[in-house]
Amino acid sequence: FEASLIVDRDFDLAPLDRRLFGVFVEHLGRCVYNGIHEPGHPTADEHGFRNDVAELTKELGATIVRYPGGNFMSGYNWEDGVGPKDQRPRRLDLAWFSTETNQVGTHEFMAWCRKVGIAPMFGVNLGTRGPDEARHYLEYCNHPGGTALSDLRRAHGAEEPLGIKFWCLGNEMDGPWQICQKTPDEYGRIAKETAKLMRWVDPSIELAACGSSAYDMPTYGVWEDRVLEHCFEFVDYLSLHSYFVKPPADTSTESFFAQIETNARYIEDTVAIADSVATRKRSSKRLKLSFDEWNVWYRARHGEHLKQAGWPEAPRLLEEVYTAEDALLIGGMLTMFMNHADRLKVACMAQLCNVIAPIMTEPGGPAWRQTIFHPFAQAARWARGQVLRAVVRSPGYANARHGELPYLCASVVDDAATGQTAVFLLNRSLNDEMDLSITLRGLGMDRQLVQAEQLHSADLHATNTVDAPDRVAPQALNGVAIAGEQLRVTLKPASWNVIVTK
Ligand code: AHR
Repeated sequence: FEASLIVDRDFDLAPLDRRLFGVFVEHLGRCVYNGIHEPGHPTADEHGFRNDVAELTKELGATIVRYPGGNFMSGYNWEDGVGPKDQRPRRLDLAWFSTETNQVGTHEFMAWCRKVGIAPMFGVNLGTRGPDEARHYLEYCNHPGGTALSDLRRAHGAEEPLGIKFWCLGNEMDGPWQICQKTPDEYGRIAKETAKLMRWVDPSIELAACGSSAYDMPTYGVWEDRVLEHCFEFVDYLSLHSYFVKPPADTSTESFFAQIETNARYIEDTVAIADSVATRKRSSKRLKLSFDEWNVWYRARHGEHLKQAGWPEAPRLLEEVYTAEDALLIGGMLTMFMNHADRLKVACMAQLCNVIAPIMTEPGGPAWRQTIFHPFAQAARWARGQVLRAVVRSPGYANARHGELPYLCASVVDDAATGQTAVFLLNRSLNDEMDLSITLRGLGMDRQLVQAEQLHSADLHATNTVDAPDRVAPQALNGVAIAGEQLRVTLKPASWNVIVTK
């Protein structure tokens, strides 16, 4: 079938915030311990961080990393993770029924961020704790010196402030599973007071309040409205979380891919609520969104493995093995994120290593790329500059929730600095090739191909495993023809494609 995409340099949506390519590292299962950190591994550095995982993280191209949780954060005492390692307490982690050894804490994680060149996004515990600990933690991290806490940091070896700019005010405080769940009024008040104190300590920080933990939470909408009623003026971002699933009642790939539209609606509804609060408050402020947890997660999600007996250290939890089908959805989701770049400024794939992750490891053994690694790495590499509106004409398929959905999902990012324009394309048709014609208006006549890659697997259930780590990986996309303003290409059914021209 035929489809078309019109791109015009004058149809710009917004600058792409590179923090859309964020990830998440939580003290959960084998994400930190026996994941990014494994002293004794043949590639470990002097802090115990695996160099092979660090190299893959750089290749992934992540720009910002959320830490230390997640649900873990709602029971975390930051003081446990600083100072001499042999004096750090072992604690019960009530979020994941594990033992936390605290051998990795603030300074070790900041060393890892520097090693891989990623900006930190830290969070404060608004579950068991509150504004007092939050302001102390920030003072410890970011205040130059001359106070007990900032001098304690210096005594711990960090003479200079850590300069952590982005802070999450708690995590999923609406969730019954959360350590110390709150009502929207309780949370909104605490978020406001915590934000106030933290900004007094360091006015240069950015703050994100917790939105709902999912679009389908029964309190979605009411939660956002009430929380923002309290803290709208005091925060910069509202968070969204979404895990893409296959409900047993409908496991079709078509419905799986329709979650792209569901999540687009989630973003647009959340913008509408934030703007309605702004209207009520007679404010011209436009709140930004931080989609600080997102990924496919439905296989390793429920069941016994979540609560293992004996409070183990770094148990295998949430070790989802991703398929080619998942990678396609991740690609489509990234196009959708880019197309909401006017309000969506930050997004963190959850998580980075072993736990619902693009990177997997074996203790003492290799590290490898899951299928979902690839679309993320391609987008992080090529999406730079200004998002242009993608005008799509494509046949499609019927979906119970969203009506007719186009087979083609597309986004376009144009970098005036380099002259490169990247086009990201998902063909959602499972059976048919797409003959695609792209009009590149206003981009200059003599465009050359810089890169053309395709991710496609005849078996949508194919996975990358320790024994076959590259079963699903991008290949060259052949047959791209450029003539004047017109680019033509044929996209395989169920394929994710990246075309860069200059
Ligand atoms: O990413 C796994 C968990 O999912 C996080 O800890 C929590 O915030 C969410 O429910």
